[in-house]
Amino acid sequence: MKNFTSVHDVPQIDALVKKALAYKAAPFKDKNLGAGKRIGLLFLNPSMRTRLSTQIAAQNLGMEPIVFNVGQEGWALEFEDEAIMSGSTVEHVKDAAPIMGNYFDILAIRTFPSLKNRDDDYSELYIKQFIKYAGIPVVSLESATLHPLQSLTDIITINECLKASPLPAGKKPKIVLTWAPHVKPLPQCVANSFSQWVNAWGQADFVITHPEDYELDEQFTKGATITHDQNAALKDADFVYVKNWSTFRDYGKIYTNDPEWMLTNEKLAVTNNAKVMHCLPVRRNVELSDEILDGPNSIVIQEASNRVWAAQAVLSEILASL
Ligand code: CP
Repeated sequence: MKNFTSVHDVPQIDALVKKALAYKAAPFKDKNLGAGKRIGLLFLNPSMRTRLSTQIAAQNLGMEPIVFNVGQEGWALEFEDEAIMSGSTVEHVKDAAPIMGNYFDILAIRTFPSLKNRDDDYSELYIKQFIKYAGIPVVSLESATLHPLQSLTDIITINECLKASPLPAGKKPKIVLTWAPHVKPLPQCVANSFSQWVNAWGQADFVITHPEDYELDEQFTKGATITHDQNAALKDADFVYVKNWSTFRDYGKIYTNDPEWMLTNEKLAVTNNAKVMHCLPVRRNVELSDEILDGPNSIVIQEASNRVWAAQAVLSEILASL
C-alpha cells in the first residue's frame, strides 16, 4: 500500500480486517517493523481518537510518531498552485511538504472541509497536494470528504460483532446508516466514507435513511437502498450507524433538524436487537440519546478502541512497501 486515502487504496478489505484483528490479539508482534522510522501526524483540525490511536499504532510497530498541530501552531498553508500569496497564507504546501517528506517516512494529515464551496472541498486539494509534493506515503486522518481510518475501524467492529454473535447461515447483516440531528452543520465525510466502505465490502444489506434534502454524493452511496422513512429502514437492522451530516446538494446547510430523528430505545425495538455505532464525538441527547449510549446495544466504545488496530494494520501495510 502506497497511500491510504480511501477504500480504493485497499486491495482486499477482508485481509486488512484480519490483519487488524491479529494486531488486537497481539499488539506488539511486529514491534520492530517500523524501527528507525518516523511518522508525522499533521492536524489542521481538532482530534482526540484519531490522534491518540494513530500514535499508539505507530509506537506498537516501533515507529516514532511526531504530532504537529498545524492548525494551531504552524504557519497558515497555501494549497492553490500559482497562488499570489498576498493574503493570510504564509507558506506554500509546495515548500512545506517536501521538507516534511525529508523529516518523515510516512505523513498523515487531518483536514476538514470548509463546507462553503462543494467543488473545492470535493476536489480534495489538501490531501492531493501533500501526496504530490511530500514524496512519501500519505495517510488520511480524515479529509474534506472521507474518513477511511474510521470506516476501516467500523468494518473491523462489525466483523468482530458478527464473529462473536453469528447470524443464521447465509443471512447477510442488515446495516443501516441513519442521519441524526445536530446543532451545527457537519461534514459528510463519515457518512460518505462509511457508505463507500460498506458498499466495497459487499457483504451486507445496506440501507441509508435521512430526511429529504440530505442526499449524499451518489459516488459513495450507489448500491445502497435509500429511504426517507427511518422507521421502515430500522426494521430488522443488525447494525445502526448514527451520524449527522449537512446537506450535499445545497452545500453545507442544515435544512431540518427534527429531533424525531434521534435514535431511542423505542425506535430500536423494531431492529434485530441492533448494535448501535457512532464515530464519536457525539452530542448526547441531540444526535443520540443517553439511553442508547449507556445501554447494552451501544458499541461506540469498542468501535473507538478499535481505531488503534485499524491504524496499525494500515501503517504495517505501508511500512512493508517502503
Ligand atoms: N472519530 C474521530 O475521528 O474522532 P476524533 O475526531 O476525536 O479523532
